[in-house]
Amino acid sequence: MKTTHQIVYGNCLEKLKKLPDESVDLIFADPPYGLAKKKGLGWAYSKHITLQETWDIFSKDEFFKFNIEWINECWRVLKQGGSFWVCGSFHNIYQLGFILQHLDAKINNSIVWFKPNAQPNITCRMFTESTEHLIWAVKNHSKTKWTFNYDDTKNKIFDSLSPKGKQTRNVWSIALTSPKEKWAGVHPTQKPSELLRRVILSSSKPNDLVLDPFVGSGTTSVVAKSLGRNSIGIDNNKKYLEIAKKRLSQELL
Ligand SMILES: C[S@@+](CC[C@H](N)C(=O)[O-])C[C@H]1O[C@@H](n2cnc3c(N)ncnc32)[C@H](O)[C@@H]1O
Repeated sequence: MKTTHQIVYGNCLEKLKKLPDESVDLIFADPPYGLAKKKGLGWAYSKHITLQETWDIFSKDEFFKFNIEWINECWRVLKQGGSFWVCGSFHNIYQLGFILQHLDAKINNSIVWFKPNAQPNITCRMFTESTEHLIWAVKNHSKTKWTFNYDDTKNKIFDSLSPKGKQTRNVWSIALTSPKEKWAGVHPTQKPSELLRRVILSSSKPNDLVLDPFVGSGTTSVVAKSLGRNSIGIDNNKKYLEIAKKRLSQELL
């Protein structure tokens, strides 16, 4: 199936405004987590998991305002019955969930992504942080049915915690991309393709339109293409988008 894939350079707050209301079937967002230490949200003992990327630096108030703005725009462009996925860590996920609940989103699941090869905790003063979280919410105001490809989840999604042929649990064990894999390490917070495969496979149909407002190195676009979905990926970093374009032209999952 021939699909189309747009890579858009710019601030998603502006670029999302150009998309029509209720025009997107699935949104996957991997936003800034607010881990950066320079201003506001720094956490003294988390050096090994903090980022110093400028795009991740916000004051507490700026961060809340930013999250409200981009989620509102995403919600506007999402179709009735469409799926909205957002991932985060304990630094931001509660705030994202609060905003979604305020929008009257129907939250279908929260997924715990277990990373068996997460970094150890070097401070030895707390547990080793080895999970991230995904919220799966749907726009259900008109009671339009959302897509859930139940058979695909049973037969095409499995790991050590969910055997093949059984219902898939909301705990997903997916290793961080090994440095040996092609395209590994091209972005500081690159998501494993398998994570995106599960999201897109389970909650969209072939030929649907998938939007990622923070597409980075293009993981979402590449997976959407491999699954026969169309995609729009936005990012305000040219360097990452060049990588995304290259991956889209070369990568076959
Ligand atoms: C967590 S990373 C996404 C990584 C991506 N999932 C991947 O696998 O490569 C967040 C991305 O958001 C981008 N970004 C931050 N603020 C943005 C904004 N206002 N508009 C568009 N992109 C933004 C950053 O450049 C960064 O690439």
